[in-house]
Amino acid sequence: MRVDIISIFPEYFAPLGVSLIGKARERGILDVRLHQLRDWAHDVHRTVDDTPYGGGPGMVMKPDPWGEAIDAVLSTGQDASARIIVPTPSGVPFTQRLAMEYAAEPWLLFTPARYEGIDSRVMVEYGTRTRVDEVSVGDYVLAGGEAAVLVMVEAVGRLLPGVLGNACSAVDDSFAPGAMENLLEGPVYTKPPEWRGHEVPEILLSGHHGRIARWRRDEALRRTARNRPELLAALDPRGLDKHDLKL
Ligand code: ADE
Repeated sequence: MRVDIISIFPEYFAPLGVSLIGKARERGILDVRLHQLRDWAHDVHRTVDDTPYGGGPGMVMKPDPWGEAIDAVLSTGQDASARIIVPTPSGVPFTQRLAMEYAAEPWLLFTPARYEGIDSRVMVEYGTRTRVDEVSVGDYVLAGGEAAVLVMVEAVGRLLPGVLGNACSAVDDSFAPGAMENLLEGPVYTKPPEWRGHEVPEILLSGHHGRIARWRRDEALRRTARNRPELLAALDPRGLDKHDLKL
């Protein structure tokens, strides 16, 4: 998969050289290309922002540098166009489902903004040529979209074939479609069987695969009820089995 990122802080993305994502890049599974937005700002100060029409606080990112930058990046593609992802707290929620959808794309272009965001005409312009998604990583406001891009690239990158050592680890994730959809994963344990007086639940040592699976599902239901009751309320009753806890 190819990933382009246009930002006024390309150095912000150094963590994409580390760990799982860094290895995926080394192995050619992920091709990340960083671009400095200011390379497409032509005044002496390389200005990328201006005051908002209609007044109000803060600054808005100018359409000109963004338009030139996105044109330049898109022009390097051969046949298909990139799917453009604009991080913003006003966007649709980034979910595991969306991460999976992005993982199936050949090419993503992220346009993280600073200040009050990008002039809206940029999204309208590219929306006529390719898919443009305005996406939020949570109900809080970051200082800019860069950290949101790190979150999304990591969530998408780990789903690419060959990135995770054990392909099954993505199947049991919290939020993964299937039996665990909209359920949080329960607690996990490793050796030793007793630590500072705390014991590993006996069932996990029993070797009884059916009963362990049942226990794990009960723990997932319990944790979801405690931490995310709204997810439990939204569970599709057809996804519940007759042994599920009455919570
Ligand atoms: N930029 C600032 N806050 C953001 C958020 N919550 N999600 C995505 N981009 C953002």
